[in-house]
Amino acid sequence: MRTLIANGTVVTAEGSYPADVLVDGDQIAQVGASLAGSAAVDETIDATGRYVIPGGIDVHTHMELPFGGTFAKDTFETGTRAAAFGGTTTIVDFAVQSRGKSLREGLDAWHAKAEGNAVVDYGFHMIMSDVNDDTLAEMDQLVAEGVPDFKLFTAYPGVFFSDDGAIFRAMQRTAKNGGLIMMHAENGLAIDVIAADTVAAGTTDPIGHGLARYPVLEGEATNRVIRLAQAANVPVYIVHLSASEALDAVRVARDEGLPAFAETCPQYLFLSLDDLGHGFEGAKFVCSPPLRTADHQPELWKGLVKDDLQVVSTDHCPFDFHGQKDLGVGDFRKIPNGLPGVEDRMDLLHDGGVVAGKITKERWVEITSTAPARLFGLYPRKGAIAVGADADLVIYDPTRSHTISARTHHMNVDYSCYEGRSVTGGSDVVLSRGSVVVRDGTFTGRKGAGRFLRRATADYARMA
Ligand code: URP
Ligand code: ZN
Ligand code: ZN
Repeated sequence: MRTLIANGTVVTAEGSYPADVLVDGDQIAQVGASLAGSAAVDETIDATGRYVIPGGIDVHTHMELPFGGTFAKDTFETGTRAAAFGGTTTIVDFAVQSRGKSLREGLDAWHAKAEGNAVVDYGFHMIMSDVNDDTLAEMDQLVAEGVPDFKLFTAYPGVFFSDDGAIFRAMQRTAKNGGLIMMHAENGLAIDVIAADTVAAGTTDPIGHGLARYPVLEGEATNRVIRLAQAANVPVYIVHLSASEALDAVRVARDEGLPAFAETCPQYLFLSLDDLGHGFEGAKFVCSPPLRTADHQPELWKGLVKDDLQVVSTDHCPFDFHGQKDLGVGDFRKIPNGLPGVEDRMDLLHDGGVVAGKITKERWVEITSTAPARLFGLYPRKGAIAVGADADLVIYDPTRSHTISARTHHMNVDYSCYEGRSVTGGSDVVLSRGSVVVRDGTFTGRKGAGRFLRRATADYARMA
């Protein structure tokens, strides 16, 4: 199957220019001016007035994550379908090692969830809950199988928490096997004390979640794990960075020349602690780290402009308000942590970043596609518009407005954090490896068409 995408503006991290893109099978065959007639094609898609961008890459999702006695609601089918509607054509999800089990068992379980279900391509990182001699040895095997990143937590004591010694041992291992440690950096031990005090003092509503998880405790943990990585002589990637205190720690380290990298998420750029108010409604916005006061947002945007933050991913982890979030009525500590977002990322950042004049359209492509591809071993197969790259492409209308709503979104969750928000920009046609999977609001893809991506080691992080 050959497809010509004609008359669009190709937008990449490096620059923008008018060009046609010829797709042959799974891959991009040619990029250039006036390609019409240069080869016989099965279909021509007219992209006049629109951008042609590499498909979005969301390197932080949690399909079916077990959390707080329940499971994140999106499956690989519903979650990747929603991703495709939002212009994201690759996800990297977190497989989970449960306490006492092997990494292998966790990874196999995630392969079983995804295979035959995902509609776009996917990879895995591994959440490590137990660092011991056996799981350290397993890390090498996973790196060899294309799962080269490991998320550890200084948060969630009793669940995913690892102490500094365990984190350091995992980092030492990545120094040898080429992998990358991803850190959820909040001081969970101190937070649990404050959260218990908050409940004891009578604040049981969701706002207590935001009040108890002090920004300084994210800053402290971020600095600590960066320094552990420095001692182990490895790069480190901070996930879902929310607070300016944590950004300061990353910036200082990067100014020292350390290979410290970080992502933030749309919720930290567009939502705030105020959303956790309004009684139990605030449960819709409970995630960790929590939403911060609005004064953190300009700092995060500055971090994105100056490349102290390299990536925006979603931490997509949807729980219904009715029947899941309400497990925490009367005690905010029991609210499952996580927000839906995989469908909205590209549009929120286009609208609130590019249209608002905070970032260029090229930077938008970089932080949502190219940089994640580079950092997570997918570039230039993904994240690029170049001959030989996978034809994961989005024909994006930068002028079309729509209103975000749970009534119209495709994520399998009963609310939207952005209900009623109007955004400018939308994905008109989405191709995954050369096949149109979304066209003008209609799904044309296929369950099971998404393939597992064996990813390369974190060489880019070691050299950048
Ligand atoms: O609240 C969040 N972030 N839930 C998902 C699990 C995690 O820590 O990423
Ligand atoms: Zn986390
Ligand atoms: Zn997460």
